[in-house]
Amino acid sequence: MPHSEVAYLDFDREQGQAIALASDSLTDLGGPQAGKVAAQARLFAKQLESTLSTEQKSTLQRFRDGLLSALMFRGMPCPTDSPPERLTDISVMARSSRCQYLASRNQVLLALAQHRSFAFDIDNEGQQVRLVGNFKGGGSIPRPDEKPDAEIEISSHAGLQLGPHTEAPYNCSTTASNGHSPAPCALILTARWNPAHEPTHVIPLRGIIERMASLDVLALTSPSFDFTRSDCFARGHGNAGKAVSMLQYNANGGFSLRYNSYRFSLNDNADSAVARAFAAFQEAVNSTRPEMFDLQADTALLINNSRALHGRSIIRDNRRLLVRQFGYSRFAAPIVIAEDPLLVRG
Ligand SMILES: [Fe+2]
Repeated sequence: MPHSEVAYLDFDREQGQAIALASDSLTDLGGPQAGKVAAQARLFAKQLESTLSTEQKSTLQRFRDGLLSALMFRGMPCPTDSPPERLTDISVMARSSRCQYLASRNQVLLALAQHRSFAFDIDNEGQQVRLVGNFKGGGSIPRPDEKPDAEIEISSHAGLQLGPHTEAPYNCSTTASNGHSPAPCALILTARWNPAHEPTHVIPLRGIIERMASLDVLALTSPSFDFTRSDCFARGHGNAGKAVSMLQYNANGGFSLRYNSYRFSLNDNADSAVARAFAAFQEAVNSTRPEMFDLQADTALLINNSRALHGRSIIRDNRRLLVRQFGYSRFAAPIVIAEDPLLVRG
C-alpha cells in the first residue's frame, strides 16, 4: 500500500511518446534556460492534459491542490544512455543534449502540475537546471581527484548524506517577506543515471504534525528558530537566518513547513516550551521511515516542498546523476527579477 500522501501517475505509451516529442522540441529551443521555452512547455502541458484519463486527472489535481507530498511520474521511456566511468565536468554535463532533454521534460511536468519553473539569483548561478551528483567528493568511494582530509560542502553537488530537509531559502513560504522570495513550492527530480538504484527519501509531514501535541505544533509557528547559510549559495550571497518560524498556515494544502536537520537550531530567545516542541518534532522525524523512490530516466518525482522533507543516504555509485528544478505554485508571490526565464531574488 503506498502512503496516502504519495501517488503515482502512469503515462500510457502514446502519452509517453507525446512527452518525448515535447521534450525534444524544448531541447531544440535551448531547454529551460532559454526564453519562450516556459510558454511552450505550458502549451505542451495543456495538450497532454487533454489526453489524461479521469483517474490521471484526479491524481494530478490532488498535487495541484497541495494535498500530496510526492507525485511520481512513470512511463516515460527514453533511448539507452550508458553511464561513463565517472562524472566529468559539471558544466559540460549540464550542456549535454541528454541533460537538456531531461530538464525540458521536467519543465513540461512542472507545467502539467501548474507550477512555474524558476531559479533563485543567489543559487546555482541563477540557472534553472541543477545537476545533483558527486562532483565535489564525500561519497562512499572517493573521487580520483579527492583529497582525503578536504572539507566537503553539504550540498547536492557532493556525495555526502543529506539529512531530512526542505529546500532553502528558509525565511518564508508562499509570500515574499523582508526582501526574500519564498522557498520553492515544489522540486522535481529525474535521473540521468542511477545504476545502483540509490533511493531518494521523502518524509511526508502531515501525519507527523497531526500526531504532535497541539501546543507543540503552535510553538513551531513562533519565530524561535535559527538556520545556517546554505553551502550552495553564491559567495557573498544568501544569509543565515535568525528568529524565523518553521510552520505556518497555507491556503494551498493547509500548512507549510521549513526545516533542515543539519541547519536549524533553537534561537537564544526560544523558551522551554519551544525547545520541547522542537525536540518532539525532531524525534518524530527521526523515527519515521522515509518513503523511498528509485529514480531512473523513465521516471520523475515531484515533491511538495511545503509538506514533505527529502534527503538521501551517502552516494555509493559516483556515476549517479539527477536533474533537478524548482517550481512555484499559483499561490506563490516571489520577488521577480526577470520573467522569462523566471528568476527571483533569494
Ligand atoms: Fe534537497
